[in-house]
Amino acid sequence: MKKTVLITGGAGFIGCHVVKRFVRQYPDYTIINADSLTYAGNLENLRDVENISNYIFEKVDISDEKAVQTLFQKYQPEGVIHLAAESHVDRSITDPLAFVKTNVLGTVNLLNEAKKCWGTDFSNKIFHHVSTDEVYGALGDTGLFTETTAYDPHSPYSASKASSDHFVRAYADTYGLPVVLSNCSNNYGPNQFPEKLIPLCILNILEGKPLPIYGDGKYTRDWLYVIDHAEAIDIIFHKGKHRESYNVGGFNEWKNIDLVHELCDQMDLKLKREAGDSRKLITFVKDRPGHDLRYAIDARKLEKELAWRPSLTFEEGLSKTIDWYLENQKWLRNVASGAYRDYYDNQYNQ
Ligand code: NAD
Ligand code: TYD
Repeated sequence: MKKTVLITGGAGFIGCHVVKRFVRQYPDYTIINADSLTYAGNLENLRDVENISNYIFEKVDISDEKAVQTLFQKYQPEGVIHLAAESHVDRSITDPLAFVKTNVLGTVNLLNEAKKCWGTDFSNKIFHHVSTDEVYGALGDTGLFTETTAYDPHSPYSASKASSDHFVRAYADTYGLPVVLSNCSNNYGPNQFPEKLIPLCILNILEGKPLPIYGDGKYTRDWLYVIDHAEAIDIIFHKGKHRESYNVGGFNEWKNIDLVHELCDQMDLKLKREAGDSRKLITFVKDRPGHDLRYAIDARKLEKELAWRPSLTFEEGLSKTIDWYLENQKWLRNVASGAYRDYYDNQYNQ
């Protein structure tokens, strides 16, 4: 069936995999990628699809009310998959307001325009809000986040995402807007900006630089391969029940220090370095303020109701991820150097 789907944040890490999947998998859909190209957005991520006829890029800042209005008037999308966000916890600690602007105000702008555009005809319409498990706060040594766990965000990032989730549900309850939400655990894989743990460590191992481990390294995260997340988003967008949320996770918990050990060992093998070489780069550094001890997702609702499960083990996913970064060192060094920002500044005259 023909339809227009607006994907926000499609030049970012997860967004580029969602855009590529939708463009290829649904040739009858027109896919609009709206992204403001912050430091985290990179059109290089979309080279494979940029010339396919059902793909359109629009440079739009979702915190700009007028720009979002124009976007909806121009394309009248039936579906929205909203991924655009400021996404890095450490940046949210130094600049919380940027997170409020994009994650809260930007989301409300999109909700408002979807509401205006759809009027009272909600047939075949859906607003899929992509969120994080960090809204649930932190777990102790046991237990899992379920869809009914009370929200208890601690960082400015998670507080802004929690706020956006509340607005999405409020628009469903107040105006009947058809929405669905997904809350996912930590993603890893190709195209992740090297400020996040895994690509940062890959880059630093390549360059022989220290691998900074916050605190004692016992913090625990559940990791999911990004392409599995893109598949989950596809399924939830098409089959999720309105007003429901779905937890998405890898059934895959790792303490940071164990994960970095695994990464170091795989890198030594692939780079033909002596076993143990990369581990010598591990450096324990000052902890992140308000650092959440443990995130762990119960993704059984998605498995039971919509038959989704991660396709890879962590060791397989990590190996594929390292291979991608080794084959794309130009990409890695380019985004790390900021050279690509200069290119955008020229290209889009900012
Ligand atoms: P990312 O930082 O890699 O990409 C974000 C994208 O949004 C970039 O392309 C950026 O240019 C764009 N963007 C930022 N501000 C914008 C604005 N004002 N207007 C338009 N575009 C803007 O993030 P990601 O890791 O791909 O995360 C995508 C979504 O998934 C986010 O909503 C995030 O909260 C959520 N999420 C991420 C993870 C994870 O582990 N990365 C886990 C769960 C949920
Ligand atoms: P990160 O990739 O920033 O994701 P999030 O904060 O959203 O979970 O961090 C993952 C974990 O790794 C988190 O516990 C913080 C820790 N970490 C480090 O120990 N060192 C680092 O340099 C980074 C970026 C993160």
